[in-house]
Amino acid sequence: MTALLEVGGLAKHFPVRRGAFGLVSGHVRAVDGVDFELRTGETLAIVGESGCGKSTVGRLVLRLIEPSTGQVRFEGEDLLALSDSEMRMRRQRMQVIFQDPYASLNPRMTVGAMLGEPLMLHGLAKSEAARKARVGELLELVGLRPDHARRYPHEFSGGQRQRLAIARALAVEPKLIVADEPVSALDVSIQAQVINLMRSLQQRFGLAYIFISHDLAVVKHIADRIAVMYLGKIVETATTDELFRDPRHPYTRALLAAVPLPDPTAVRQRALLEGDIPSAMNPPSGCRFHTRCSFAREACRRDEPLLADDGGSHATACPYWPEFPPPAVLAEAAGQDADRRRLARLQAAFVTNQREAS
Ligand SMILES: Nc1ncnc2c1ncn2[C@@H]1O[C@H](COP(=O)(O)OP(=O)(O)O)[C@@H](O)[C@H]1O
Ligand code: SF4
Ligand SMILES: [Mg+2]
Repeated sequence: MTALLEVGGLAKHFPVRRGAFGLVSGHVRAVDGVDFELRTGETLAIVGESGCGKSTVGRLVLRLIEPSTGQVRFEGEDLLALSDSEMRMRRQRMQVIFQDPYASLNPRMTVGAMLGEPLMLHGLAKSEAARKARVGELLELVGLRPDHARRYPHEFSGGQRQRLAIARALAVEPKLIVADEPVSALDVSIQAQVINLMRSLQQRFGLAYIFISHDLAVVKHIADRIAVMYLGKIVETATTDELFRDPRHPYTRALLAAVPLPDPTAVRQRALLEGDIPSAMNPPSGCRFHTRCSFAREACRRDEPLLADDGGSHATACPYWPEFPPPAVLAEAAGQDADRRRLARLQAAFVTNQREAS
């Protein structure tokens, strides 16, 4: 079976202009050679610190911006070869949800008008009555009421507004939704509700998600697979279970060390992420992570590691990982810190919501 989405060698180098004449003085290598696949009904999470290129990958996949190089195939079709009008037709099958739903919802439009618009545009509702019925159905799908159609976005809470954004994305019956930090602005208990909603909609409609987040704790509950990005590149990719059980790349280990553990008796590894992210205009030579890596050696400054799989689906862009002590050896008893309590709350909210749902 072909993948729903195939991304190969994808790169975006934004020109940086300086001075009165706007001369190009360099490039921000926001995305610098990224490959991945996504199957129907699957969720791939893209995680990494702010500025590593996650949103740019999302925008490239949807062709909201043009890549510098690389391919994007959707349902077997080369998206980059399509004309603007052909691309507009395909966009019906590829939707996007952003972090701040308020910014992406028109404040002067009622919810009914906002949800009805794409239905009319794409010929999905032939009559006024059909449109109204479909709007009511969409609102119910996301846990709101049909009579909410008369209200304006400001009359809803943050979590409800993200539900509206999801309803609007669903209106055109997409196959793929790129969700860019969809719950990052929400309170922890609301995060869990929105993620549970996204999961149930996925099961119902066979949706595929690209779920972008800086927070590994959040993607654990929705992702089938995770790709960890650092300075424009994927440094590790594995199934979610595998990545949490056996993180290999030092950067992934550092990110995980910052993630609180749900089990109070569990131990966590001591590998802290120190220093700032280097500039994407001037990424470090060799392995881009060498300036912050506690395992770095001389060769790391010179040789750029490839993302190599282990014969299975787990790939790591560090040739030295087999030599590192297993995470358990590095581990130390975890303390009761704010992060831990945050995850405990998040997980408790999941359990409660799942009980309510069943
Ligand atoms: N339109 C743009 N012009 C110039 N630089 C950009 C533009 N968009 C993003 N960048 C830069 O590209 C890098 C990656 O940004 P982004 O994809 O937004 O990262 P993330 O979503 O992981 O926080 C950052 O250094 C950012 O400043
Ligand atoms: S290649 Fe070197 S610097 Fe890069 S992650 Fe591996 S050990 Fe660290
Ligand atoms: Mg972003």
